[in-house]
Amino acid sequence: MALERTFSIIKPDAVAKNAIGAIYNRFESAGLRIVASKMLHLSKDKAEGFYAEHKERPFFGALVDFMTSGPVMVQVLEGENAVLSNREIMGATNPSDAAAGTLRSDYAASIDENAVHGSDAPESAAREIAYFFSDEEICPRTR
Ligand code: PPS
Repeated sequence: MALERTFSIIKPDAVAKNAIGAIYNRFESAGLRIVASKMLHLSKDKAEGFYAEHKERPFFGALVDFMTSGPVMVQVLEGENAVLSNREIMGATNPSDAAAGTLRSDYAASIDENAVHGSDAPESAAREIAYFFSDEEICPRTR
């Protein structure tokens, strides 16, 4: 299987819990490599653009408020089956449905504040990576 990339966000709730390092450790322990990374405080426009597909959903306003409530870490993860692998590490969207040992089970308080985002398919990963990173900001490993 060829290397794949996925896009990940550590959301404001998990950043506030000082869990960045612990979450990065989960990615790396699972064989995913962090090939781009930065901390950002999202603007309302940037968050609305990122979640545009959910614009008509009832939680949209609260989601944008939450995602702009504090800094986030955004990163590109690379590895075999990176999209699926990251989804498994994260666990279900609603932490009450998330399997034990997943990030959302361990760090998320509710479906509204659920610690992490991960792309759901290679196509959305490519779009989301390009929304946050230029090609020059992504550093594939040479060894
Ligand atoms: S769903 O509900 O299964 O269709 O979820 P999904 O399409 O995968 O993503 C919805 C994103 O909105 C975030 N969010 C919520 N979803 C459902 N219900 C509530 N109340 C809610 N609040 C926020 C959810 O975490 C998804 O965002 P990401 O960033 O992908 O986790």
